[in-house]
Amino acid sequence: MEEKKWVISLSVLFLLFVYVLIHFEINANNIEKSVQKLQNREVETNKKLHFVLISQEFDNPYWRKVQQGADVAAKNYGVNVEYIGPLRTSPEEQIKLLEKAIASQVDGIIVQSLDEKTFAPVINKAVSQQIPVITIDTDAPKSKRIAYVGTNNFDAGEQLGRIVAEETNGVGKIGIIIGSEKSESQQMRLNGFLSVVRNYPKLIVKDVVSSNISIIQAKLQAESMLRNNKDISIMVGTSALDAIGILNASKNLKLNQVEIFGFDNIEGTLQAVQNESIKATVIQKPYEMGFQSVRLLIDSLHGKAINKENFTPTEVVTKETLIRRRNVEN
Ligand code: BGC
Repeated sequence: MEEKKWVISLSVLFLLFVYVLIHFEINANNIEKSVQKLQNREVETNKKLHFVLISQEFDNPYWRKVQQGADVAAKNYGVNVEYIGPLRTSPEEQIKLLEKAIASQVDGIIVQSLDEKTFAPVINKAVSQQIPVITIDTDAPKSKRIAYVGTNNFDAGEQLGRIVAEETNGVGKIGIIIGSEKSESQQMRLNGFLSVVRNYPKLIVKDVVSSNISIIQAKLQAESMLRNNKDISIMVGTSALDAIGILNASKNLKLNQVEIFGFDNIEGTLQAVQNESIKATVIQKPYEMGFQSVRLLIDSLHGKAINKENFTPTEVVTKETLIRRRNVEN
């Protein structure tokens, strides 16, 4: 009987020992895993953040300025910004690039959302995978993007409308070239423009067509518009390359009396404003858009609160403005 008690006691002790041993092993394992995780995280935090910037068109001079701003911000803040975009404007290509950025789990995405219906679901997919998205140039306000950086496009359209009304004394037949029918920012500019022109009964819009953001298309479209509407005395372009295309068309048709108004400050446009072959241009701040969007992504990844709408300023530039500027600089 005494012996049996001993055996039972020893067995209980043995079982206890095994239990403690197993627990110890499990704990040791867990600790090892935690350390490994911490080490991995440390390696990761030493890695530069990788952002992707998706433009409407890779080699477009306007988007190259956005890229410049983003590159300078990347250098200043020690992150990597990969600039990509379709060779020719194509929303489908942009969406593919967006999907690719999500698949490679980048740290942040900056994208022009050409139209909200197509872009919002993919933007939301990125955000649901903890990849913050900033829209640039064209917003998708109903999506889960963390912020927008760019022009207030309706206001900029109004600005264009006001300078046209002022320079033409509110009289003339107007032909309009927009960058793209698919682009919501272009539609907003057009609507802003029309909302002002509507107040001038002697300003009549004859036609609106798209250049597909190509100088050659802008020229061809402007030529056919001017041929078909001999009474057009004012031509307006609402994206970066349109005014130059219109100018080429009016030169080709020897219609020097047509007054041209445009958008943005690519070199050719500013030169033409200088020599008065373009009356005025509404300039945006693409460099600043690129810079700010990178800065805001970094701020948000560091847990700082950021504004949802970050409008960059626009400005009307005429020959007089250029002269005034030169005087200030001298
Ligand atoms: C617009 C951009 C567009 C570019 C095309 C700019 O005025 O803001 O959306 O991609 O023109 O040239």
